[in-house]
Amino acid sequence: MYRYVKNVLLKAITFLFKCCHLISRKKILFTDGGAAIFPSVILDATNMISVCDKGILHRGKLSFKGRNNTAEISGFLYKTMISVDGDDCSVLIGRNCSIKKCKIVIKGNNNTLKIDDDTTFGSDCWVVLMGNDNKIEIGKDCMIAENVDIWASDSHPIFGDQACRKIINPSGSIILSDHVWLGKNSTVLKNVEIGKNAVVGTGSMVTKNIPSCCIAVGNPAKVVNEGINWDRKHINV
Ligand SMILES: CC(C)(COP(=O)(O)OP(=O)(O)OC[C@H]1O[C@@H](n2cnc3c(N)ncnc32)[C@H](O)[C@@H]1OP(=O)(O)O)[C@@H](O)C(=O)NCCC(=O)NCCS
Repeated sequence: MYRYVKNVLLKAITFLFKCCHLISRKKILFTDGGAAIFPSVILDATNMISVCDKGILHRGKLSFKGRNNTAEISGFLYKTMISVDGDDCSVLIGRNCSIKKCKIVIKGNNNTLKIDDDTTFGSDCWVVLMGNDNKIEIGKDCMIAENVDIWASDSHPIFGDQACRKIINPSGSIILSDHVWLGKNSTVLKNVEIGKNAVVGTGSMVTKNIPSCCIAVGNPAKVVNEGINWDRKHINV
């Protein structure tokens, strides 16, 4: 009975918020069971957010400034901030993804963030994508622990000369293949690819590519074991 009342109330609240978004002409599209519960949304006119495939925006903040930016959210976002400031950027968050209390910051033009199905983030992670024509791709069923930083940019320019003519630290893409585990407090910096089934140890700093099926640890992260795989279920030995 309690569960029934709770479900009805939740549906009513969700419906009300859908109506509010429609009334305020925010360009949020809800399809296939997509819903929103108390998110704060700032959307410039030509931007579009679509919440689909049972995706849920639960609280959190979405701010899309600039032109022609799009987001397609099929996963569950709880108290997560997505800030886009630029033109022609896209955000794709796949089915069954779970992202809680994280910050996603995208600045610049034509940048793409793709988080594929079944990938989960622990709280307090940062995903930072800056520059132009840059991308972060995170494959299927990746497990990103708490307080992980994925930075496809250093955020601020460093010049190779005193006259500040040439930037020596341009932004660069990050690609995580399917089923990658990033341990707690780890960091992945720009221009890095991590192969499938790889594990990055807690507190590690990944500055170079990591091959598939390896454990990499330390600062800078180095491979300490090869030919491994891992499972999401809790360990029992
Ligand atoms: C990466 C990890 C899984 C590896 O476990 P393991 O296979 O049992 O590895 P070992 O303990 O045998 O360590 C192998 C070597 O790497 C070193 N090492 C392990 N983890 C390290 C880390 N996080 N940073 C630096 N060095 C590390 C060990 O000192 C050891 O070095 P040695 O060969 O010179 O003695 C584990 O160390 C780890 O980081 N676990 C935390 C995972 C996590 O964040 N969980 C949160 C929930 S999602």
